[in-house]
Amino acid sequence: MPLVKSAPRVLENVSMLPYNTFGIDVSARYFVEINHLQEYIELVQTGNYAHVKHLFLGGGSNLLLTKDIEALVVKIQMDGIEVVDEDADHIWVKAGAGVVWHDFVCYAVDHHWAGIENMSLIPGTVGAAPMQNIGAYGVEIKDTFDHLDALNLTTMQLERFDTARCAFGYRESYFKHEGKGQYLITAVCFRLNKQVEPQTSYGAIQSVLAEKGIVNPGINDVANAVIEIRQSKLPDPKEIGNSGSFFKNPTLSAEAAAELIKGYPNIPHYPVEGSSMIKFPAGWLIEQAGWKGYRSGDAGVHAKQALVLVNYGHAKGNEIQMLSEQIKKSILEKFGVVLETEVNIL
Ligand code: EPU
Repeated sequence: MPLVKSAPRVLENVSMLPYNTFGIDVSARYFVEINHLQEYIELVQTGNYAHVKHLFLGGGSNLLLTKDIEALVVKIQMDGIEVVDEDADHIWVKAGAGVVWHDFVCYAVDHHWAGIENMSLIPGTVGAAPMQNIGAYGVEIKDTFDHLDALNLTTMQLERFDTARCAFGYRESYFKHEGKGQYLITAVCFRLNKQVEPQTSYGAIQSVLAEKGIVNPGINDVANAVIEIRQSKLPDPKEIGNSGSFFKNPTLSAEAAAELIKGYPNIPHYPVEGSSMIKFPAGWLIEQAGWKGYRSGDAGVHAKQALVLVNYGHAKGNEIQMLSEQIKKSILEKFGVVLETEVNIL
């Protein structure tokens, strides 16, 4: 049996500060970095860490840590981007789970492969992207997703998931429900378009392009517009700790939506594709309830986008969680709307 040249080193009591974009300083009982799947398989075969849970970590950008982690944190670093197939219109490109999502987007844009440019600058890794079907500016990964490979943690065999098996929804997938904790995503394959048809229907993209006088945008123009929009209203985690949108945008039945719109005629709302549900921006609700720019100690609500909770320095995870509970309560009282958390709280 060939052995990996150097077995990954498992560290003990490691600070998670560099590994989560909220900038929360808790410690992990055990911590290991995995560059090849085989390293993880061999680590499991030793049986040394069978007594603790294994927590897989990508960019740590959708995570709020509220206490020390009594588990083995497995930092996924499998890299590599390769073209696996192509025809006249499409190219199938596969990336390792540990590839930084924005690096993958830049790679595609540089090669003129369209379909993911609207998701420029979303923090996190390729492997984490399908978990919550990441999306921005009118596009979600399900739109260009082809398949993913995942290690079944019970059988330790690789399995392939196509779009249907992933059960994607708005910030949802099989891996947040039935498949939770059962698989380690190792690589994701996308079907990108050689024929470029930029998706600019999202208002903010159109206005940035118009300001620049760009009439026939290429995908690099769209990517640059998205980067500009994101940088203007979303805080950079390197400067202010955050995990992007803290809540999901709530969706209501047509009936409940009509009632809400009657009370608040200016409320923005959007139909949900393929259903009669209506989606409302949680950021608007939170701003109207007076929370935008709120700060208590080092926990706060971002001043430019109320959907984003921030850590100004040394906030504890449970202080941010408490703030999120206060916001939920206030939105329920004022609008009768239940907000769901988008970030994983541990
Ligand atoms: N709005 C307010 N006040 C705010 C924030 C937003 O009134 O403080 C209003 C805006 O004026 C606009 C509407 O809410 O009418 C929507 O705002 P925006 O375009 O900023 O998008 P969002 O719905 O707040 C979602 C995603 C973001 C994604 C953007 C752009 C979710 C939970 N969030 O935010 O994703 O970048 O659309 O597509 O769906 C993330 O998931 O971490 C994330 C940042």
